[in-house]
Amino acid sequence: MDRIKVVGGNQLNGIIPISGAKNAALPLMIASLLTDDTLTLENVPHLADVEQLVRILGNHGVDIAVNGRRERQGEGYARTIHFTARNIVDTVAPYELVSKMRASFWVIGPLLARMGEARVSLPGGCAIGTRPVDLFLEGLSALGAEIDIDGGYVNARAPKGLKGGTYRFPKVSVGATHVLMMAATLANGTFEIENAAREPEVADLAKCLNAMGAKISGAGTGHIVIEGVTSLSGARHRVLPDRIETGTYAMAVAMTGGDVFLENTSADLLDAALDAVRAAGADITPTNAGIRVRRNGAGIEPVDISTDPFPGFPTDLQAQFMGLMTHSKGRAHITETIFENRFMHVQELARLGAHISLSGQTATVEGVARLKGAQVMATDLRASVSLVIAGLAAEGETVVNRVYHLDRGFERLEEKLSNCGAEIERISG
Ligand code: EPZ
Repeated sequence: MDRIKVVGGNQLNGIIPISGAKNAALPLMIASLLTDDTLTLENVPHLADVEQLVRILGNHGVDIAVNGRRERQGEGYARTIHFTARNIVDTVAPYELVSKMRASFWVIGPLLARMGEARVSLPGGCAIGTRPVDLFLEGLSALGAEIDIDGGYVNARAPKGLKGGTYRFPKVSVGATHVLMMAATLANGTFEIENAAREPEVADLAKCLNAMGAKISGAGTGHIVIEGVTSLSGARHRVLPDRIETGTYAMAVAMTGGDVFLENTSADLLDAALDAVRAAGADITPTNAGIRVRRNGAGIEPVDISTDPFPGFPTDLQAQFMGLMTHSKGRAHITETIFENRFMHVQELARLGAHISLSGQTATVEGVARLKGAQVMATDLRASVSLVIAGLAAEGETVVNRVYHLDRGFERLEEKLSNCGAEIERISG
């Protein structure tokens, strides 16, 4: 199994190109199930999760051509991919495929809307919390679906089609908002979603669906209105920049010091996170082409944060920010409000010499002047990269095991960092 070796101590200087967002690409790919025409997606990141979804969509009969223009030469770079779901050959999403990645459960929306039925395995447990699917099922019922659960599968049926109505989320869910929005595009009548997720990836999906002929307004706000249409067509859409990757590298620069331009991204996607990085002592200058991040001289200031749905501080950057705070000049409180068990990185950061105590949903991080390299391991992708960030500032060698977690969500991480002066390499085998 591959590992990543980091030798800490170098500043980062240079340019880091930001990839297309994993969490936008996945629902966009799933949207291809809604039409028998071709959906072409540009700037699709080359990631393990994308490859897994390609397998899942293939199982439903989607024809996938990756022979589009490569945006740069070589393996591991963003690609243009064509998805054509001319015939849906199977409306069952089996356990073997769905259990590997929670987002694959989302095929339930388009399959039900287009085919009138879907049988999709429950996604199962996950390292960051229990993550139930109750909100999906309530929302699909509000769209007129009949739902039952048997043998670990959700059976959803709408033989006469889905219908208009309203669903108010009792709690914000990104995935369930994606699914209801996709399903409602082909409903009879108008469907309204209240307390919808406002994440940029939801707005990006709506933009693509509208290009396919859907009638969606309000995506990106808490109130989305979807006027059903009888069919959707193909479209061409460019996946928006990855705000989590952007924030991760901003935190890495704040950690090491230096001067890096994060290219092809936008500060609007992550204001709350950039505010926290600024408060920690980095200079952040947004431009039309990206974001310049610098930190020189002074040490890292402690900053308290609490995760929240967008536009709040993203849970997907919580681990990385904790990595940064391990090396601050004081005490920082980090509160996780989205997932109940997203602190698996705490004990691994401690192996590098971090001082962190946990009380309920809040971690108290006492910054230390000196982190020391060690062997570490992580259980999810954001936790893994927090260990890389800490390793960049640690004395000596840090080896991050289970790199497949990183490969799920970070495109060419070691290359991007080493191009900016980090001593980092992948060790195969
Ligand atoms: C998306 O997951 C992201 N995944 C996650 O990123 C991200 O952490 C999360 O949104 C929150 O921002 C993708 O976009 C592929 P939710 P999702 O439904 O949609 C609870 C990463 O690292 N909930 O918004 O699965 C749930 O348990 C990943 O890239 C219910 O209770 O998250 C959680 O506490 C990890 N019932 C909260 O809502 C439901 O039916 C928010 O989850 C659904 C969710």
